Amino acid sequence: MSERPPAFDLVVRNGRIATAADVFACDIGIRDGRIAALGEGLAGREEIDATGKWVLPGGIDSHVHISQPSGEGIVMADDFASATRSAALGGNTTVLPFCMQESGTTLRSAVSAYHAKAEGECYVDVSFHLIITDPSESVLGQELPALVADGYPSFKVFMTYEGLALTDRQILEVMEVARQTRALVMVHAENYDIIRFLTDRLEQDGRTAPRYHAASRPIIAEREATSRAISLAELSDVPLMVVHVSNREAMEEIRRAQAKGLKILGETCPQYLVLTAADLDGLNMEGAKYVCSPPPRDPASQEACWEGLQQGVFATFSSDHCPFRYDDPQGKLTPKGRTSFRWVPNGIPGVGARLPILFSEGVVKGRIDINRFVAVTATNHAKVYGLYPKKGTIAVGADADIAIWDPELTRTLTHDALQDGSDYTPYEGMEITGWPVLTMVRGRVVARDGVLTGAKGFGQHVPRRL
Ligand code: URP
Ligand code: ZN
Ligand code: ZN
Ligand code: ZN
Repeated sequence: MSERPPAFDLVVRNGRIATAADVFACDIGIRDGRIAALGEGLAGREEIDATGKWVLPGGIDSHVHISQPSGEGIVMADDFASATRSAALGGNTTVLPFCMQESGTTLRSAVSAYHAKAEGECYVDVSFHLIITDPSESVLGQELPALVADGYPSFKVFMTYEGLALTDRQILEVMEVARQTRALVMVHAENYDIIRFLTDRLEQDGRTAPRYHAASRPIIAEREATSRAISLAELSDVPLMVVHVSNREAMEEIRRAQAKGLKILGETCPQYLVLTAADLDGLNMEGAKYVCSPPPRDPASQEACWEGLQQGVFATFSSDHCPFRYDDPQGKLTPKGRTSFRWVPNGIPGVGARLPILFSEGVVKGRIDINRFVAVTATNHAKVYGLYPKKGTIAVGADADIAIWDPELTRTLTHDALQDGSDYTPYEGMEITGWPVLTMVRGRVVARDGVLTGAKGFGQHVPRRL
């Protein structure tokens, strides 16, 4: 008698599955990289036993910076290989980095340049947002509409930063195109003039250590810009994603807009849950390790960011991974950076640490349940940015992007284990309970027990549509 061959390439058995809505126990049958069946007693040519583990949609990190130039000869610590390697080890199956337009160049050339950097390098799937720094007539009239149609329906604008900040008028022009093309605008909301004014005054007073970075970008600067960005979106009648929200006042602006019925979305990040401005107080230049914008605030702000996640004000929890090496004259410690916080590059690494931090601090400590964890780390990212239901959930027909979590594994977070391209993690020494022990992208195991098993170049670019 001949036995029938197993119906599936791979079966994940005996796990407890959580989606953004449900918790259930069954096997997952995977064929050709997609979930082909959810059921009992499924048989596969290969099987993974997930007894005692959570089986979750792979993490989607919709806010990461990879291989972006930073001026002054500063080099970002991660290329696409190292960033996506760390992402895979941290339970992620898709990341959304940016194609940044450099002033005086076309958007299309930025898209080509970032594709060239990513091609053949990625361990997990990748989908690009755009950063618009020069909204010229041709960018607004031709390039943006064409790029939205080609699968890039989200773009970030900055209200601060030399060479990046747009005027309110320019933001309105970008929003007008977003309305016409059904795209999503993401905004970095901080008041540029407040920051420039305070930075000048702090420097005049000799307050140049990294800790003054936080003083130069107070909550008022973030709250005012958040309110203004929401007003511009309301006027333009477009949805808006306010990224990296750090405190209650900005969060309450978003909540109020949502209560009015405006389509305003919010995002927060690990640095606003577990770091504070006191972390910038390190001796000598150590505080530079925590310089990011907006800066980490205080315990009350941390509580507000938890509340935003618990109550759905924040749809997404992202890393804002923006890594620079610390002990490096082309990283945080440039000769100029040593003279003033003004010149310390903004941004910290986090793509590998994001999910363990939220699992441990959120799910294990009872601040959020497992469904909320899945929503803010995967499902909502897919829905907001146009990857759903191909990505972001466990359902028949979806890509087999899965992370298996051991909810009881306790380990100290160290930079070594994250395997990114930086030389530190701002979260060094945190005690973390709950780790991803297996990450699978389209049915292929890319990380297992802290070891990378995927192949460089397996990660694909995923065009999106909203
Ligand atoms: O400090 C930060 N967040 N740097 C990354 C760029 C950005 O503004 O998101
Ligand atoms: Zn490509
Ligand atoms: Zn930003
Ligand atoms: Zn960012």
